[in-house]
Amino acid sequence: MPVFKALSITEHHQKTPLTLLDFEEPQLEDGEILVENVAVAQNPIDWKQVDYDFGIKSLPWVVGGDIAGKVYKVGPGVSQFKVGDRVISFPSRKTTRHAAYQTYSVTEAVRTVKLPESYTFEEGSTIPLTYTTAGAGLVHALKVTLPTADGNIPLNARNEPLLVWGGSSSVGSYAIQLANLAGYDVITTASKANHDYVKSLGAKHVFDYRDANVVEEIRKAAGNNLSLVYDTVSTPATVKQSVESITSPTGGSIATILPSADSSLSTDTVKIVSTGSIKAFEHPEIGRALYALLAVLLEKKILKTNPVKVIDGGLNGVNEGFELGRQGKVSAEKFVYRIADTKF
Ligand SMILES: NC(=O)c1ccc[n+]([C@@H]2O[C@H](COP(=O)([O-])OP(=O)(O)OC[C@H]3O[C@@H](n4cnc5c(N)ncnc54)[C@H](OP(=O)(O)O)[C@@H]3O)[C@@H](O)[C@H]2O)c1
Repeated sequence: MPVFKALSITEHHQKTPLTLLDFEEPQLEDGEILVENVAVAQNPIDWKQVDYDFGIKSLPWVVGGDIAGKVYKVGPGVSQFKVGDRVISFPSRKTTRHAAYQTYSVTEAVRTVKLPESYTFEEGSTIPLTYTTAGAGLVHALKVTLPTADGNIPLNARNEPLLVWGGSSSVGSYAIQLANLAGYDVITTASKANHDYVKSLGAKHVFDYRDANVVEEIRKAAGNNLSLVYDTVSTPATVKQSVESITSPTGGSIATILPSADSSLSTDTVKIVSTGSIKAFEHPEIGRALYALLAVLLEKKILKTNPVKVIDGGLNGVNEGFELGRQGKVSAEKFVYRIADTKF
């Protein structure tokens, strides 16, 4: 018998641990599938939603935007998936059932791709939300041309730099790989301990963001040609550093991904452009192209997933993972929860 249990938020600004509650098997709308989750992954927005009380439309509520599992049921109008397919998906979080931290999630077929056997469910769960964010930011905010699913991968070298600020973050790791596949020479920043990691993702130059000369070093490596920056950290300090890193005499664009990012630092020539995963769905052609490309990158085993850190206890471990997230203890890794480790 399937177990329908969800790790639930039961009050606004909840300070006490989230608890597992039962739910009924959900009905599927047009274009939806029900996924039996095997592994779900943590993103900063999950604990931020609890702490800052946003996007919680009713109680009890469920958060989480990364799932990997097997298709359990297929809704009306879905022909590209069948029961039993291994998939990863980025549920929309529009209802309690369209979220990750539960045993079965409803998600849309257009936000889902098949996961080849060459990736584990745990690895696969690290991809959907931040890959989508990385791709949407490159395409929408920075106007980067990515490879297409049916074209050459990678695209020809452009001999142009692109800076990813925060290359060891989850968004940064996918931004480096996509920019590299688009033919850019990627410059990035990370802690020293993560320099080999970001190079393994395709970064050509990496600098320690704690180094006082970091902007100077970036400018030197970039020559006079840096016009594109993806700031995956987007604090006031990193936005300022991103602006200062632009070397192109004609200016350029900086993609930022937090609503709090300060766009007043824009100048006549340097534009700060707010982006986020939502751009992939506000502009469905961007989302379609990104997911078609993702399917090919997975089939060909080109995409490197984030290093996985499995947190003990499955869904029971999420409260601990959120605490570590709040304390900033995530470095070049993704916290992953195995549903089978949960005690119901
Ligand atoms: N708008 C959207 O749709 C959207 C989507 C996804 C994420 N986000 C937001 O984007 C941010 C990144 O998300 P994520 O999941 O990628 O985060 P993450 O993986 O949890 O980020 C952790 C990483 O950030 C790096 N970092 C921290 N401060 C840095 C700095 N000053 N300079 C360079 N790197 C720094 C750390 O690098 P080291 O360990 O190497 O020091 C660490 O590896 C979060 O604030 C998240 O809420 C927004």
